[in-house]
Amino acid sequence: MLVNLRDICAVAEQHSIAVASFNTPSFEAVRAAVEAAEETGFPVILSHAQGHEEIAPLEWIGPMMVEAAERSSALVCVHLDHCEDLSYMRKALDLGFSGAMYDGSFLPYDENVSNSKRAARMVANYDCGLECELGSMGTRENGAGHENDHVGQATYTDPDQAAEFIEETGLDILACSFGTVHGIYKGEPHLNYDVLREIRNRVDVPLVMHGGSGVSDADYQRCVEAGIRKVNYFTYGAKFAGEAVRKLIKDFEAKDSGSIVYWQDMTTVAHETLFEDFKHVINVLSNGQAPVA
Ligand code: 13P
Repeated sequence: MLVNLRDICAVAEQHSIAVASFNTPSFEAVRAAVEAAEETGFPVILSHAQGHEEIAPLEWIGPMMVEAAERSSALVCVHLDHCEDLSYMRKALDLGFSGAMYDGSFLPYDENVSNSKRAARMVANYDCGLECELGSMGTRENGAGHENDHVGQATYTDPDQAAEFIEETGLDILACSFGTVHGIYKGEPHLNYDVLREIRNRVDVPLVMHGGSGVSDADYQRCVEAGIRKVNYFTYGAKFAGEAVRKLIKDFEAKDSGSIVYWQDMTTVAHETLFEDFKHVINVLSNGQAPVA
């Protein structure tokens, strides 16, 4: 069932869980995410990042995501991730997306506020919830500089400014920065729970953690306990699926020189790997709670 971003986060709040938001720039990923939600009994968010336009153009992947959500027995939100361009956001809204993120985190505060407000006015005409970001992780989500040690360039979200930002923009959920980064972690991620708890104390909207893949299960649980209600996850799942395809090819080559790897073998192994990985993430984020659906 296709569900609004506001409603899916309200379900997460009600059950004290976080909903997994998987970037799904392929058929294998869309299918794996929806099936993982159905099998575990928890909601899920299918995300398309504007930065993935070249891998999976919105006009191709968007209708598939919406159709998959509508047909599913699970609660599924179809979300636009890290959108920096409001005309692109309108295209996603017209396709039926039920969540959208305007990302002005790289802009000066006042510009971030005014653009986020414009996004809020646009989204209000649709059955869609709005996410905006304050603070910066120092890395983009679209693959640029993907192996990173950019934590030093991150700016944690200021809890006082967060309350003001929410009031001024009218956003529904807030992406905040407290120590995670997009992409591959070079060292152990160090999350600042004091910052997170402080934000949670000052604001009353659901909080989002970006840069969620590569974070340990124990850290996930602490984040959920500290009030995170949506976790964005992409890079490590994509890496695991890539490694599984590479192993498949190596195994075929080891068998005998006449073996052929067909494309459909790769799609199967990628789907299975993502399915197992996504179920694991959903289960950890469910924080020991009983299935929702
Ligand atoms: P990762 O790169 O850690 O998977 O984060 C993805 C993300 O935050 C997308 O918005």
